[in-house]
Amino acid sequence: LTDIRTLLLSRIRDVADYPEPGVTFKDITPLLADPAAFSALTDALASIAERTGATKIVGLEARGFILGAPVAVRAGLGFIPVRKAGKLPGATLGQAYDLEYGSAEIEVHAEDLAADDRVLIVDDVLATGGTAEASIQLIRRAGAEVAGLAVLMELDFLGGRARLEPALAGAPLEALLTV
Ligand code: PRP
Ligand code: MG
Repeated sequence: LTDIRTLLLSRIRDVADYPEPGVTFKDITPLLADPAAFSALTDALASIAERTGATKIVGLEARGFILGAPVAVRAGLGFIPVRKAGKLPGATLGQAYDLEYGSAEIEVHAEDLAADDRVLIVDDVLATGGTAEASIQLIRRAGAEVAGLAVLMELDFLGGRARLEPALAGAPLEALLTV
């Protein structure tokens, strides 16, 4: 497992002062471009899906789509997109959440989740936890159970884990890397 972490970490590029001065952006595109690293990441997340007894994978637009879709295929589970508002054509459930400036909304097709589903949410980064918290609320409102939240990276200093504790209600938060 240590070797996987070293591999993944070596394929994440720090970009200074992006998207604004003082912020270091964690760029996963080198990891995506490396088939061995991307495959190892997919395996690690798929094993979390198996361990948590997930029946569905929810990916959070946009980077959670890139990671979550291959995880769903590898784990043999269906993939459900949680999209930014206005993109899904069917009947949706929406959940608003606060950003640093203003707010945003995410949506899911209501019919995609059933009461007996256990959902593993997949995303690239846990930062403040706002996006993940809204997705947890959305899944619960759809009537499904949250099996857990799995991310490639947790930005520890932003306190997302503590923020999510009430919403997760005992479901695991698995971060492959803590930075
Ligand atoms: C980024 C990242 C996570 C989220 C984490 O998404 O991919 O989804 O922010 O931040 P939070 O924990 O503070 O909510 P973003 O919507 O910025 O971009 P994306 O569409 O490229 O995924
Ligand atoms: Mg995102």
